Parts: sequence; structure tokens; C-alpha cells
Amino acid sequence: MSEKEEQISRDHAGNLDQTLRPQTWEEYVGQEKTKENLRILLTAAKERGHAAEHILLYGPPGLGKTTLAHLISKTLGTNLRVTSGPAIERVGDLAAILTNLSPGDVLFIDEIHRLSKSIEEVLYPAMESGVLDIIIGKGPSARTVQLELPPFTLAAATTRMSLLSSPLRSRFSGGVFRLEFYNEEEISRILERSSSLLNMGVEKKSLNKIASRCRATPRTANYLLKRCRDMAQLEKSELDNGVVKRTFDLLEIDQLGLTSADRNVLEAIAHKFSGGPVGLNTLAAATGEEQSTIEDVIEPYLIRLGLIERTPRGRVLTPAGLAHCQTKSIE
Ligand SMILES: Nc1ncnc2c1ncn2[C@@H]1O[C@H](COP(=O)(O)OP(=O)(O)OP(=O)(O)O)[C@@H](O)[C@H]1O
Ligand SMILES: [Mg+2]
Repeated sequence: MSEKEEQISRDHAGNLDQTLRPQTWEEYVGQEKTKENLRILLTAAKERGHAAEHILLYGPPGLGKTTLAHLISKTLGTNLRVTSGPAIERVGDLAAILTNLSPGDVLFIDEIHRLSKSIEEVLYPAMESGVLDIIIGKGPSARTVQLELPPFTLAAATTRMSLLSSPLRSRFSGGVFRLEFYNEEEISRILERSSSLLNMGVEKKSLNKIASRCRATPRTANYLLKRCRDMAQLEKSELDNGVVKRTFDLLEIDQLGLTSADRNVLEAIAHKFSGGPVGLNTLAAATGEEQSTIEDVIEPYLIRLGLIERTPRGRVLTPAGLAHCQTKSIE
């Protein structure tokens, strides 16, 4: 199978996220500071023949944390073992993963903020000194056995830095990297690559239009591109600005790229709480959204746009936020 055919068959298998995931540093657009730091860290470790030091990636969903973990192991030329905080339920689960690593492997723990305290405590010595302390037995006859682990790099990701204990945070000796939202030019480049991988002919100005409304997030940009492709296919037309507009209308995405969930939060602060301040749990109850969704997904982008602010007394609508609520109600 040619590379292109393979791409298409993967596409048909519904595995589009995999298809569109950057495979090289050149394809990974933006995040220049993080990329440069990682390049130096990884190259130096590789040259010394050591496992790279532990790395923590954080930032809102869909900005490229998992993709970076893949690139890290690729650069080091080692295996990537993927797991997540909620998947590691018992100390034995973590022990099994760690003892099965090959020297130099990268262990990716997604959602590391969801690890339980008891598991975190086993992770500390593993990260620091490469040993695993296992307690055998209970009560007075309990004893600790220390297992030597193969050298490994922990690459962890979280959307919620504030939930990480500081002892855990401080053990990421390779660095803690915050992923940033992307600018429109960067998103346009990502969309150009995606549209060519998906064999779509799309005008640049239509890609720019998608880029301006994707919440500055690559995953959302790719998602919107696919929805526009569906619309164009059903309308048997080219993917032009008209198709983009109809797709956005259907998905209820407004001119700032806000979804109805985003606007619900804005409008609740404006109308139910007179502009705030309002506490997170009150806001969650008023909008029917989970607190974690508001904190992880909705709020970071509204703050970035300067529509709301986080204050010690709660969330407050800014004048720009109020103006946005008013344009929507006039339209
Ligand atoms: N810098 C980038 N350049 C090009 N495409 C990107 C970039 N970052 C992310 N993407 C695209 O966005 C998709 C989502 O990225 P990824 O899964 O790495 O995000 P994430 O930060 O791990 O999200 P989550 O927190 O939800 O796990 C990828 O499949 C890829 O197609
Ligand atoms: Mg991820």
C-alpha cells in the first residue's frame, strides 16, 4: 500500500485524530519555546546516553500534549508507554508498568492530577532514585523490598496544574512546560496540512475563517474542518466561505468561536449574577455544566479573550464580555 493509500484507509477507519497527528517536530506547529527547550534537553540526554529527565506538560485540552509525548519518545529513539492517572488504580498497577519498562523508555501518564495519593508516594522514589519501594505483608511483620528500576523518562500531562501536589511538581527535573493557545496564522498552517492529508482542496480564506473560530485550539480546528468537509460533501459543493458559515451556524459557533456552552456561562454571569463575582460551584449549578468543564475547557478561553476574569471572590464579566452578550441578544 502506498503512503497515501494507507493514509486514506486509516482515515476511513475513523482514526482521523491519528492521521492528523504531527509525526515530526517540523509538523508540530508553534509552541516554539517549549520545542526549543525540549530539543536541548532531549538531544543532550541522548548524546550522554542517559534517559532524559522527567517532563510535565500542562495546558487546556487539545493543544498538543499527547502529540508532544509521542515526539519526545521518537526523538529519544525509545518506546512510549501510555497510561493515565485514572487507569492506575492500585500500587501494583504502577509497579507492573514500571518494572516492564526497557532502559530509556518514555512513560506517558496522561491526566496525572488524577493519581491517588498512595500511588503518588510510590512514584516519588521511582522518579527520584529509580527505585520502587514495595511493602510486603501487613502489620508488625510488614517489610519493605526495594526494586531497582530501569532508567526511564516520565512525561506527564495535565489540564489542571493547580491539582498537582507541590512534591510531585518539583520532581519534574527536566522541566514544566505550559502549552499556549495558538495564533490564527499557526492554526491556518495546521489546517493547510490537515486539508492536504485529507485530500481536500480548500481556499486559503476559508481555512482562515475556520482558524479564526476554533478557540485557538488545533483539535477544534481539525474537528471544524471535518464538519465543513461533511457539509460540502452533502451540498455537493466546494468547501468555500458559504459552507464554512453554514457549518458554524449549524454548530452554533459565533463570531468569536464561542460555543453555546461558552455563551451560557457568559450569559449566566451577566444575567443571573449581574456580572459577578460568582463562585465556581454556583456558576456550575446555574449552567448545568460540570465544575471541571468550566475550569478546564470553558474558562481558559474566555479569560484569554478578556471576556471574564478570575478574582479571589469569583468569576467576573469584563466590559468586553458584557458587550459580547449584548451583540448576541441583538442579533
Ligand atoms: N502543534 C500542533 N501542530 C499541529 N497539529 C497539532 C498540534 N497540536 C495538536 N495538534 C492536533 O490536535 C490534535 C490534538 O492534540 P493532542 O491530542 O496532542 O492534545 P492534548 O493536549 O493531548 O489534549 P487532551 O488534553 O485533551 O489530551 C492532534 O491529533 C493533532 O492533530
Ligand atoms: Mg492528550
